[in-house]
Amino acid sequence: MKLLFFAALLPFGRLVGALARPNRVAGVWGLVNATFIVNNEVAESPYGDNPHGMISLTETGWFVEQINSVDRNNSATETVGFGISGSYNTDENGDLLNQTVLGCTNPDFIGDVRYPAQLWFDVAQDGQTMQERFVRDETTTIYFLWARLDLSNRPS
Ligand SMILES: *[C@@H]1O[C@H](CO)[C@@H](O)[C@H](O)[C@H]1NC(C)=O
Ligand SMILES: *[C@@H]1O[C@H](CO)[C@@H](O)[C@H](O)[C@H]1NC(C)=O
Ligand SMILES: *[C@@H]1O[C@H](CO)[C@@H](O)[C@H](O)[C@H]1NC(C)=O
Repeated sequence: MKLLFFAALLPFGRLVGALARPNRVAGVWGLVNATFIVNNEVAESPYGDNPHGMISLTETGWFVEQINSVDRNNSATETVGFGISGSYNTDENGDLLNQTVLGCTNPDFIGDVRYPAQLWFDVAQDGQTMQERFVRDETTTIYFLWARLDLSNRPS
């Protein structure tokens, strides 16, 4: 009787969540830095030295990411920046397994399915930072460092 009462109180979503795959990457992350490696050498970032970036990965397997320069005036074209969105899945350890690009400022990326050999996320043991490696093409690999955003670091 008591057990039944408790079961009725548990939100359905929580039950479904408990059965779903683990997910270490879900959350909202702020960009710490981005390093472009072109032909094995550090190259100038197209977003300037101090880009602003955020990536949001939902528990339900959707993501949206935006990166833009803060030290360049792009009001005329609104093009000095990068936006991407889509869906993703995690593996049995909660790490990124695959990602499907549904929308992007770079139309060449739309429809891409990415696996860890190309797109790799590594969440630190404490869950507070995440390294990303994105192999853009044969010549260019980009490394991103993300830090978890939560209630404690909101400006307002
Ligand atoms: C990115 O930031 C981290 C943490 O501050 C630092 O350890 C790392 O050297 C930085 N990387 C680059 C390429 O600046
Ligand atoms: C950016 O450039 C536009 C057009 O020249 C100008 O009107 C605007 O004030 C500039 N914005 C900043 C933040 O410098
Ligand atoms: C991505 O991973 C999910 C979960 O294992 C799987 O169902 C799906 O088929 C994969 N998608 C692709 C395109 O590999």
